[in-house]
Amino acid sequence: MAVDQEQSIQQIEDEGVVPMYTKRDVALVRGEGYYLWDSEGRRYLDFASNYGVNILGHANPAVTAAISEQAGRLISCHQSFYNDVRARYLERLRTILPSPLSRAFFSNSGAESVEAALKFARAATGRVEVVSARRGYHGRTYGALSATPEKKYREPYLPVLEGFQSVPFGDVEALEAALTPETAAVILEPVQGEGGVHPAPDGYLETVLNLAHRNGSMLILDEVQTGFRTGRYFGLEHSGVVPDFLCLSKGIANGVPMGLTVTSEEIAARLPAGTHGNTFGGNPLAAAAALAVLEEIERENLLRHSAEMGAYMLERLREFDRASVREVRGLGLMVAVDLRERATKYLRALQERGIIALSAGPTTLRFLPPLIVDKEAVDQLVETLGEVLGRGKAT
Ligand SMILES: Cc1ncc(COP(=O)(O)O)c(C=O)c1O
Repeated sequence: MAVDQEQSIQQIEDEGVVPMYTKRDVALVRGEGYYLWDSEGRRYLDFASNYGVNILGHANPAVTAAISEQAGRLISCHQSFYNDVRARYLERLRTILPSPLSRAFFSNSGAESVEAALKFARAATGRVEVVSARRGYHGRTYGALSATPEKKYREPYLPVLEGFQSVPFGDVEALEAALTPETAAVILEPVQGEGGVHPAPDGYLETVLNLAHRNGSMLILDEVQTGFRTGRYFGLEHSGVVPDFLCLSKGIANGVPMGLTVTSEEIAARLPAGTHGNTFGGNPLAAAAALAVLEEIERENLLRHSAEMGAYMLERLREFDRASVREVRGLGLMVAVDLRERATKYLRALQERGIIALSAGPTTLRFLPPLIVDKEAVDQLVETLGEVLGRGKAT
C-alpha cells in the first residue's frame, strides 16, 4: 500500500512538472519540530530546513496558530490598502533592524528581494553597474541571476543584464579595481551560502562599505540565507556593517513565502514612488507568520541557543580527523563539511540513515538545521556522519 502510494506521488510529480530539479527518492509528507516523515512513515532528522527556511522547525504551534487565525480573517490585502497585521509586523521588525534601516519593501522570495534592491540602487544612484562576488548566489530572476556568476545557472539563459561583473570574494584590491563612476552597487552575502558556506574574511565587509561609499556606490547585503541563522538576527551584526539595502527571505516567515528589501528613510525618499510592486507582497498571512517568528525567537531565546548549537556543531564536527575531510567551517547554524571527494554519495548515505542534509557545491556537505536543534540531534548527526565517512579511514 505505502509503496504504491509513494510511487504514485513520484510518478505524478515526474510526469507533471518541468524537470528542473534533481529529485531525491523520497516524498516528504509531514513535519514536527526538527523531524520530517516520508510517505512510508519513515522519520528523518532535518538538517536542511528546506534550504534554510523552517528556522523554528516544522509545525511550530505559535506559527500554526497565527496562520490559522489569520487565514480565517484575511489572507490577502494588496498594498494599495492598509492592513493591521502588516502594520504590527513592521512595528516589530523595526525593533530589530540596525539604524538607520527602517523602511521595508515587501515581496515573496529571495530573488525578488534582491531584484528590488538592484532596481532601487540603480534608481537611487542614477548609475547602472553592479559588482558581485564569485561563488555568490542571489537567485534566478534576471537581475539576481546577473549578480550570480556561476556558469551553470546562466549559460542557457544568456545574455544576462548589462553592467554586471564579479570579483573574487574577499579580494579588496579586485573590488576596488572594479568600481567605476558608473557603479550603482556592490552586492555580497555576509556568509556565502550556496557557494559553499564561506564567511566573509575579517574586516572585508567594512572595507567594501567604505570603498563603495567613497565611490558614491551603495552596498547591498544579501541576507536571504544568513538572516536569523548566524546566531544573531543578521549576519551583518558580526561586523557591525550596515548596508544601504538588506535583503531577507527564507526563514523570516518560517516557510510562508516572504521577501523583504530593507533600506533607510533617506534612501527610500529618493526612490520614485509607484515604479515597483507585486500582488502578494506584505500579505497578512505572511505578515502574521513573520510576526509569530519574531515573537517566538524572542520568547524562546533562540538566537542565543542557535549560537551555542552552532558552536557545538563546529566543535563536534571538527573532531573528525579523516582523510576525506578537507575543512569544517561555518557561522552560527550555517555549517559546512568540505570533503576531498564529491558530496552526493554522502548525502545519499545520510538520508538512508535518516538524516536530511544539503550540498553546497560539488564537494561540500551543508547543514542548515532549524534554530531549535539540540545537542542530542547534533550528536546523532556527528555519529551518523562518522559512520558514513568510514571510521576505518581515520587518519
Ligand atoms: C543568499 C541568497 N540570495 C537569494 C536567494 C534566492 O532566493 P529564492 O530561491 O527564494 O528566490 C538564495 C536562495 O538560496 C540565497 O541563498
